[in-house]
Amino acid sequence: MRRPIYLDYNATTPHDPEVIEAMKPYLKEFFGNPSSANYFGTITRNAIDKARLQISLLLNCSPGEIVFTSGGTETNNLAIKGIALANKHRGNHIITSAVEHPAVLEVCRDLEKNGFKITCLPVNNIGIIEINEVEKAVRGNTILITVMHANNETGAIQPITGISAIAGSGNIFLHTDAAQSIGKIPVDVEELGIDLLSVAGHKLYAPKGIGALYIKKGTSLNKVILGAGQEKGIRPGTENILGIVGLGKACEIANRDFLKNHEHLINLRNMMYNGLKENLQENLQLNGDLDQILPNTLNLSFKGITSNEMIAALNDKVVLSAGAACHSGITKISEVLQAMNIPEEWAKGAVRISVGRFTTEQEVGRAIGHIVEAFQKLRK
Ligand SMILES: Cc1ncc(COP(=O)(O)O)c(C=O)c1O
Repeated sequence: MRRPIYLDYNATTPHDPEVIEAMKPYLKEFFGNPSSANYFGTITRNAIDKARLQISLLLNCSPGEIVFTSGGTETNNLAIKGIALANKHRGNHIITSAVEHPAVLEVCRDLEKNGFKITCLPVNNIGIIEINEVEKAVRGNTILITVMHANNETGAIQPITGISAIAGSGNIFLHTDAAQSIGKIPVDVEELGIDLLSVAGHKLYAPKGIGALYIKKGTSLNKVILGAGQEKGIRPGTENILGIVGLGKACEIANRDFLKNHEHLINLRNMMYNGLKENLQENLQLNGDLDQILPNTLNLSFKGITSNEMIAALNDKVVLSAGAACHSGITKISEVLQAMNIPEEWAKGAVRISVGRFTTEQEVGRAIGHIVEAFQKLRK
C-alpha cells in the first residue's frame, strides 16, 4: 500500500538524513560520559560543545547561553517556573496568552495555584495579540511575559519585538516558545529582544526528546530538576548525546538552507491554499492571515462538515490534524480557535495542514485532489 501523504509537520518532522548521519557515530561507538575526564568522555564533551555552537549560530547568541533539555515541554517548564520562582520577591504577576501550547498554559495554571497571578492575553480573529492588550496587562508587580513566537495550530506569528519593547521598559523578563518558528522564519534572539527562548528538536528534523533553552547572559533562574552539575547545574542529568548531536546538526542545516527551505515552504503552502480555494470557493475559510502565519501552516475550515469526518475520509491518503475533536456526537473546538472567536459552524470543520522540507509539489497536487474529493463526498 502507498504511504499516506504526510502534511503534519507541525506535529513532528521526520529526521533529516544529514542529522541521522551526524548521530550515527554516537549510536555506534562514542558512548563516553561527557562528565568523565577520560578519552571517551572527551569525545562526547566535544560533541556537546560543537552542538552548542551550532545552535548559537542559528539563534545569534553565544554558546554559553544554551542549556540542553529533554524537549519543548521541559524547556517551557524550566523557563517559566525558573523565572517565576527566582523573582518571587519582585512580584507575582505573569502575562501569557490564550493561544499558548499546554506546555506553557499548564505551567501558568500550576503557578496560579501557588500564589502567582496570571493574565491571559486575548487574540484577534486572525490569532494575533494586539500590542495595546499587552500594555494594558502590565502591572508594577509583573515579572514575566511568556508569549509564543508562532502558534502550532494556526501558524500565527506574534509581535515579539513589540512585546519586547514593553517588557524591556518595565524590567520584565520575556520568554518565547519558538518550538514552531525555528527553521521556518528568522529567529534571532537579539532582534527579537528576548531573555529566554524554547527550542524543540523534533519540530526541526532532529529526534524527539531533545530541546534547548536560550537564557540571556546574566539571567538567573531556579532549577526545576535537581541533581548533579551538568549544564552549569541548571539542568542536571547525564546529557542525551545522541539528541544533542542531532539537534546541533539540525540547527546547522536550518541556518545553512534557510532561504531555500523558506521559499520551498511558501511555494507549497500557497499552492495548497490556492488549489483548495479554487475548488471549494466559499466552502473554505482560512483561519488566519496569509501574511502573518508561518510559511508552512494553514488552518482551514470546511463548511458543513466536521474535522473528524475530513480526517477519517482522508485516512489512508493524506495525514493532517484536526482543529476540533468530536466525541459521542459532541464537538469540542480547540481553545485556539475559540480564542479567535471563529464561529462554531466554521470551527468544527477546521483542520491544520502543515507542509515541510520533504513535501513535494506532486504530493501537494495529489493532496488537493483527495481533500476536494473527500469534501464533495461528505457534503452529499
Ligand atoms: C508550540 C509548542 N510548544 C511546545 C511543544 C512541546 O514540545 P515537545 O513535544 O518537544 O515537548 C510543542 C509540541 O507540540 C509546540 O508545538
